[in-house]
Amino acid sequence: MNTSRRTVLAAGAAAGLAATTLTTATGTAAAASRHAPSKRHFGALADGTAVDVWTVANGGTRLKVLSYGGIVHSLELPDRQGNLANVSLGFDNLADYVAKSPYFGGLIGRYGNRIAAGRFTLDGHTYQLPLNDGENSLHGGTQGFDKRMWHIDPFTRGSDTGLVLSRVSPDGEMGYPGTLKVRVTYTLTARGAWRIDYEATTDRPTIVNLTSHTYFNLAGEGSGTIYDHTLELAAGRYTPVDAGLIPTGELSRVAGTPFDFRRAKPIGRDIRAGGEQLVRAKGFDHNWVLDKGITASPGYALTLADPSSGRVMRMHTTEPGLQFYSGNFLDGTLVGSSGRAYRQGDAVALETQHFPDSPNHPAFPSTVLRPGTTYRTSTIHSFTTR
Ligand code: BGC
Repeated sequence: MNTSRRTVLAAGAAAGLAATTLTTATGTAAAASRHAPSKRHFGALADGTAVDVWTVANGGTRLKVLSYGGIVHSLELPDRQGNLANVSLGFDNLADYVAKSPYFGGLIGRYGNRIAAGRFTLDGHTYQLPLNDGENSLHGGTQGFDKRMWHIDPFTRGSDTGLVLSRVSPDGEMGYPGTLKVRVTYTLTARGAWRIDYEATTDRPTIVNLTSHTYFNLAGEGSGTIYDHTLELAAGRYTPVDAGLIPTGELSRVAGTPFDFRRAKPIGRDIRAGGEQLVRAKGFDHNWVLDKGITASPGYALTLADPSSGRVMRMHTTEPGLQFYSGNFLDGTLVGSSGRAYRQGDAVALETQHFPDSPNHPAFPSTVLRPGTTYRTSTIHSFTTR
């Protein structure tokens, strides 16, 4: 289905007209027309805390979000026939998210990706974070934002609808200095785009690098690998890594290497090319340096497209970096939301961010946040079909 047909469908549904598309188990794009966000009980944590799942729908897109971890539990999008499928990896129960999730759909903080030896120095003080990835600290430590409860307020404003997620991360949480007040807004627009706006303030100098860890498979979660998906990345350089996946500090040119996605190519085309960088990460798991740099409003970063379903996702961001992770560590031991095992390459995470380990690389764009200033970044995922 092309964009115009999708718009017509969504408009038809909004006007209360019957949609004439095929219906699948999860419904049609018309079923995902706008309605006020609603919640239901999803499960309870070991200490009895109740976890809700919120549903937000607009413009043919339907998003389900957990109050635990701000987790994107599902993201349903129409294919070219208008059939909805969940394109994000997840579990059908809370216990699996708590016990074994490799950050499926998680809201990542305080620091997306790795900090070498979990250590950094700021204003002469050295801080030690928990090590949860070999010798390094990954995605905020052993209990990052993806494993915390979030307060959720629904909103509907004009033609937009969505959720405001907030929490206060106490001074010293996971070793990070400063009381960090965080507000993350998930908005679905009338055209079905999913926008994320991150905001944070602190009462002491600190570092912050928030992102979303959705694992995308545009053919539907559990449907096989993403090696046929094409990816175009507006980045002429990337940050090579050492054996622990920590950036070496160099910015290397992608030209003439498997890392060159400046023209759309299938993710699987060069993934077996060998070479130290691909071997270290077991595939792609690197930070690309977006050509646009840091921007005041979201600038173009990438296009991901699945030829079989016709689903296309474009991402725009204010951030300077993009972690492209090709699901290398999925190994068939996790059974996902629709009962199918996830294996290597079954999804791709595309995390907008500042560069990994920036606090230890003064030449990288700074991730320092000081009292009196507000951290603000935005990322937009827009969806069409072709
Ligand atoms: C990292 C990977 C890691 C994955 C999930 C990505 O952001 O770069 O190395 O395995 O998150 O755990």
